[in-house]
Amino acid sequence: MQNQNSSNAAQPLNGDYWRGIGGDRWVLNMDVLELGIETFSAPLLQAAAPIPGERVLDIGCGGARTTISLAREIAPGGQITGIDISPQILSMARQRAGGIENLEFVLGDVTNTDLGDPYDLLFSRFGVMFFDAPERGFRRLHACLKPGGRLVFLCWRSPQENPWMSGPAAVFASFIPTMPKPDPDAPGPFSLADGEKIKGILSAAGFNDILLTKLDSVMQLGPLSEAVPFLMQQGSAAAVLAEITEQQRREIAAALGDHMRQYETASGITPPAAAWIVKATR
Ligand SMILES: C[S@@+](CC[C@H](N)C(=O)[O-])C[C@H]1O[C@@H](n2cnc3c(N)ncnc32)[C@H](O)[C@@H]1O
Repeated sequence: MQNQNSSNAAQPLNGDYWRGIGGDRWVLNMDVLELGIETFSAPLLQAAAPIPGERVLDIGCGGARTTISLAREIAPGGQITGIDISPQILSMARQRAGGIENLEFVLGDVTNTDLGDPYDLLFSRFGVMFFDAPERGFRRLHACLKPGGRLVFLCWRSPQENPWMSGPAAVFASFIPTMPKPDPDAPGPFSLADGEKIKGILSAAGFNDILLTKLDSVMQLGPLSEAVPFLMQQGSAAAVLAEITEQQRREIAAALGDHMRQYETASGITPPAAAWIVKATR
């Protein structure tokens, strides 16, 4: 099966991606995606330990599930800003959060947007892996924190530890050998998979007390009939899969279904998923 995509470079999943097709796909699959990563939320919120009165920034806030939870935790007296680079995603967030008084949204790239007074807590659930220049991006975040303030975020660990992403990628590559391989250093889900790399970037940016904790859970992908089309719409592979014939897509979907069935449980397809909880202070 030929890849009809003339370029062999995976699209970096940076701001252009999120403002374009990536944002459209996130909006389309928002409920499934959020349910998928929900098991990671409670440990992340616990690590962030927000307290009433704090000023909080939710970075890459997406559909604002975490922003809304944090807004409750920091009331009374606290104020949260959700920032996201994607207009279409942020418009979903605004619809969901209408009427919550201590919450506001900013449309922009967190690495170059003026966010005013510094924050007590910079928080992110999987929203800090997409910076074009991570070193510069995290220096900018450091400047947004009050002295003693906390940075707390989640990011994915390696592809091998996340078979919900690497398994489908291997299935796709077995049909389309020229499927572009994502660059681990390019903006994307695995750009911060290496713990030593995270420590290097954060310490160069000026952060202290850097602590990485492994969080192992599962991705909740629902029934197989929903998991397969969902997985075929993720990341840079989706653009290639959109270009092949319907017959080819059906063959790949069948193979992907066979592969994912190993993760079937009473609550649907639940492959292992592995993240870092990263904490640091200014
Ligand atoms: C994987 S999604 C996570 C969304 C949300 N935090 C959640 O857990 O539901 C990543 C989000 O980060 C946003 N994003 C990516 N790069 C960004 C940047 N430089 N500045 C602000 N938001 C960014 C994307 O638009 C997207 O909404």
